[in-house]
Amino acid sequence: MNFEIKTLSPGAALTQRSDALIMLIDSSFKPAKDALSQLVGQLLASGELESKPGKALVLHRPAGLSCVRLVLAGCGDGGARDVRLGVVSAVAAIKSSAIRTVTLYFPALHQEAAFRSAIMAVAEASYVYTTTKSKPEPRSIRQVVLGVPDASRRKAALDQAVATVAGIEYAKEWANRPANHATPTLLAGAARSLAKSASKITCDVLGPNEVAKLGMGAFLAVARGSQEPLRFIELRYAGAPKTRAPTVLVGKGLTFDSGGISIKPAPEMDEMKFDMSGAASVLGVFRALAQLKPAINVIGLIPACENLPDGRAIKPGDVVTSMSGQTIEILNTDAEGRLVLSDALTYAERFKPSAVIDIATLTGACVIALGGVRSGLFSSDDALASALLAAGESASDPCWRMPLDEDYADGLKTNFADVANVAGRPGGAITAAKFLQRFADKFAWAHLDIAGTAWKGGAAKGATGRPVALLLQYLLSTAR
Ligand code: BES
Ligand code: MN
Ligand code: ZN
Repeated sequence: MNFEIKTLSPGAALTQRSDALIMLIDSSFKPAKDALSQLVGQLLASGELESKPGKALVLHRPAGLSCVRLVLAGCGDGGARDVRLGVVSAVAAIKSSAIRTVTLYFPALHQEAAFRSAIMAVAEASYVYTTTKSKPEPRSIRQVVLGVPDASRRKAALDQAVATVAGIEYAKEWANRPANHATPTLLAGAARSLAKSASKITCDVLGPNEVAKLGMGAFLAVARGSQEPLRFIELRYAGAPKTRAPTVLVGKGLTFDSGGISIKPAPEMDEMKFDMSGAASVLGVFRALAQLKPAINVIGLIPACENLPDGRAIKPGDVVTSMSGQTIEILNTDAEGRLVLSDALTYAERFKPSAVIDIATLTGACVIALGGVRSGLFSSDDALASALLAAGESASDPCWRMPLDEDYADGLKTNFADVANVAGRPGGAITAAKFLQRFADKFAWAHLDIAGTAWKGGAAKGATGRPVALLLQYLLSTAR
C-alpha cells in the first residue's frame, strides 16, 4: 500500500481524482460555502447521513466532483476509536467494487492519534492474506491519499503510521502462516532477511547445540517432542550509540502448540499456529524500525520451537534445569510458553537492558479475564508499566495492568523442584506471570499476555498484528 499526504480544502477535494473519496464527518461539522460541504450539510439535516460512526453513505458519480464515488462516513467525536469505526464502515461500503485509489479526506482533524488510527484502519480493512492460496485475491486498495487541512503538520505522524502498518502486516503475515509454512527455521530466515535488507539491523541464530551449551534446559525440554529443530533468534537494531542501554523484546515463538503430552482437545487446535504471535510482533517491530530508523537501541529475542507429543517428549512430573540454574517441575507440558520464555529472559541479562518486555500468547485465562480488547500487562516497574499503558492508548492498541502480589506465587510451590510450571486454574494469567517474574529480577521487566488480542477466531479468523503498534509507540517514546 502506498500512502501520500496532501493539504486539501473542501474546494480542492471536489477536483480530487480517485476511485473513492472518503470524507470523514465528525459531530462538530459546520458546512462551508463550497458545493461538497453544502451537500454534506443537507444530508445531515435530512437525517440521511449521521455523524455517529457505523453507516457510510455512498454516492455514485456525484455532480461537480471528479471522483467516481463519494463515501460519506460519520466519525463521531473525531477521536481515534470513532475515526477507526468510520473508516472501517467506509471501506466496507465500497469493498465489493474495484477500488484501487482512495482519498481519505479529513475536513477537520484534531488529534494525532485519530489520524494514525485512520491510516491503520484503511490498511486493516483492505488487508488480504494470500501466501498459501493457489489463486491469490489481489489487494484492492493500493494507493491512499490523505487529505488534511495542514499536511506539513502531519508528516511525522504519517511516517510513524505507515511504518506501523508495514510492521503490523509483517507480523500478520508470519502469524497467519500455517505451522508447516512457518517453522522455527523459516522464522529465523525471516529475521535474517530483515537484517539483510536494513543497515542498522543484525541477526544471529542459534540451533539446538548452542542452546544446550548455554544451559537453556527449559527451552530444550519444550522442543524435545518435535522433529523440527529449535531456533533461538537474536535481532539487534542499533540506531543510537553503544553506550545507550537497549530495550529487549522477547517474543514467544511456539510455531505450533499441541500441548505436548498434556495434549489439547481437537476443536480449535489449529489456532495454536498463532502461538508464535509474540515472535511475529517482534519481527513486525523490527520491520518498522528498519523503516523509521529512530535513535534507540533494541534487541529482539525469539525462542522458536514446536510443542508436540512424542516418545522423546517431556512428561508431566519431569524436572529440568533452566539457564538461571533454577530447577522446574513440569506438571503440565501445555504450560510451555513460560518455559521457553524463562531461558530467553535469563539470556536478556547480558545486554544490561534499560527494560525487558516479553510478548506472549501465554494463557487461556487471560482471554477469559480481558477478552479481545486489551492485552494483559504485568510489570515489576511502575514507570515502565505507565509508559506501556500510555503507549497502548496513544496507538489504539490498549493493554490493562494486572497484579503481581507475591501471594499469587503460592501455587507454584512443589516438593520436587525450585518451582512448578503451573498453579491451579484461579488467576491463571497472573500465576503464569509470577512464574516469569522469577527469571526477570535483574532488570525492569514487563510482560504482555496477548492470548486474547493477537488473533481473531470464527469467520474473521486471522492475526491482528497486535501489539506491534503499542510496542513501537513505546520505543519511540524512549527516543525523545
Ligand atoms: N498457548 C497457550 C495459551 C492459549 C490458549 C492462548 C488458548 C490462546 C488461546 C499456552 O501455551 C497454554 O496452553 N496455556 C495453558 C496453561 C495451563 C496449562 C496452565 C492454558 O492457558 O490453558
Ligand atoms: Mn500450551
Ligand atoms: Zn502455548
